[in-house]
Amino acid sequence: MGDASAEEQKAAQAAPPAGPSATAADASPPTPFDALRLLSRQGALRTEGCLRQLLSKYHGVEGLVAMNGGLPPQASFPLTSLQFGVAGVAEGETEAVELSPEQLAGSQQYNIAPAGFPPLQRWAAAHVAALHAPPGPHRVLLTAGASQGLELVCSLFLDDGDCLLVEEFTYPQARTRSAGQQAASRHRGRRQPGCMLECNLAPRSCRVLPVPMDHDGMLPFQLEQASLSLLSAAANVLEQAAAAGGPQPKLLYTVPTGQNPTGACTPLERKRAIYDICSRHGLLILEDDAYQYLQFPAGPLRPPGLAGLPARSSYLSLDTQGRVIRLDTCAKFLAPGLRLGWAVAAPAVVGKMTDLLNAQTLGPSGLSQGIAYRLLETWGGEGLERHLWRLQAGYAASAAALHAAARRHLEGLAEWREPRAGMFMWLRLLGVEDASDIQEELREARVVVVPGRACHPRASDPSFRCPFVRVSFSHLPPEELEEGMRRLGAVLHSLQQQRQ
Ligand SMILES: Cc1ncc(COP(=O)(O)O)c(C=O)c1O
Repeated sequence: MGDASAEEQKAAQAAPPAGPSATAADASPPTPFDALRLLSRQGALRTEGCLRQLLSKYHGVEGLVAMNGGLPPQASFPLTSLQFGVAGVAEGETEAVELSPEQLAGSQQYNIAPAGFPPLQRWAAAHVAALHAPPGPHRVLLTAGASQGLELVCSLFLDDGDCLLVEEFTYPQARTRSAGQQAASRHRGRRQPGCMLECNLAPRSCRVLPVPMDHDGMLPFQLEQASLSLLSAAANVLEQAAAAGGPQPKLLYTVPTGQNPTGACTPLERKRAIYDICSRHGLLILEDDAYQYLQFPAGPLRPPGLAGLPARSSYLSLDTQGRVIRLDTCAKFLAPGLRLGWAVAAPAVVGKMTDLLNAQTLGPSGLSQGIAYRLLETWGGEGLERHLWRLQAGYAASAAALHAAARRHLEGLAEWREPRAGMFMWLRLLGVEDASDIQEELREARVVVVPGRACHPRASDPSFRCPFVRVSFSHLPPEELEEGMRRLGAVLHSLQQQRQ
């Protein structure tokens, strides 16, 4: 990882300084944040392992006879060539691309470099430097997508009962809790959050505090209130020696662009305010920017591409202290099946993530990494730019089609904003107390949307009522978006008539 890190550091040093606020950045060098202080019990016990240590120790030694690794011989690998077509190299053209013999052999071998396939890791590091110019020391680690990044961070930093802050409505996942986990949580007498990061947080029985939000993301003032009231609550709990699950929040999880499920985009000024609050309360920031590339603020005719994306406007760009862990994914701008992404954080945090990743999978699939690298190399900057334009224009057109269909069928029945990023439109259903109450009617009308409560930490609390739904526009043609809105409108209309 040494080379890539050096490249990144150089790029970061060349960039103008960013910081949580102009005054803070100008005044004095920032105090580094000691993220490792917040490690979970298992996170603290994670180490590089003696075989990896050996590799690091001998890294770069010339003429070494390496008798340490248990590696299959290169000649035994079954794939002798790998060729695929790459779309969009030039407008409307597909180019046949091949992995070189060395790349193919490397792709079939174990990941020798802990941070991932070196050329792809270097591509990701240079990309991070150009787009985010992280102002502090950092490293880039290839992952098997953002989902793996989330699980790494949760494992490393969250113990059973730990507390974290999330946007009021947040990223839901499939309900995959096993009966055993449900029984275990009943046994402990805790209510499982039935929503965001259900796969990551629920099994750990984390205490998930929702921070009120609007269409610009979390409200900083409310965030501070949430933290402060929790701090005093924790003090009470501690005083009464009933502190199980009551420590102060460790981490703030945020999806800052085209947020899942609301589509909210957090402006830079608000990010600064939130970063400052997190600094005051000793919180890690987990920035899951899965939809960063899916921005289309000016509609289908003027997609931003890569060059037009707001640069240096992420939490990572503000991170002078090393409190941000940023996750990126190839799923939304290349293909989910590649199962690739990258994580960026302070070197010590990435070190821990690498140790755990090695324990889990020894890194993402080598073949995926080899293919993704050749794809990006073949495109070059121009091809990627063209690909992103097309992608963003397509998403913008779908968002506009959904918005237009909603205007035709939901006027007076729901409220919404036209999406400007991501994959989702967020609707408040008028006259409906909780959107999950009308699931039967929707099923009968043969239309399915995600009830908003599934995205809220109080999902399993019957007293929590939530009139929102999440509607996805990413994968359906305009006629199906139209039909979906027509069916939803018909259900809402008939309910409205029944109420009158
Ligand atoms: C906010 C958010 N984070 C992460 C993911 C998963 O990303 P990946 O496919 O890279 O694991 C998703 C996918 O829906 C998402 O919406």
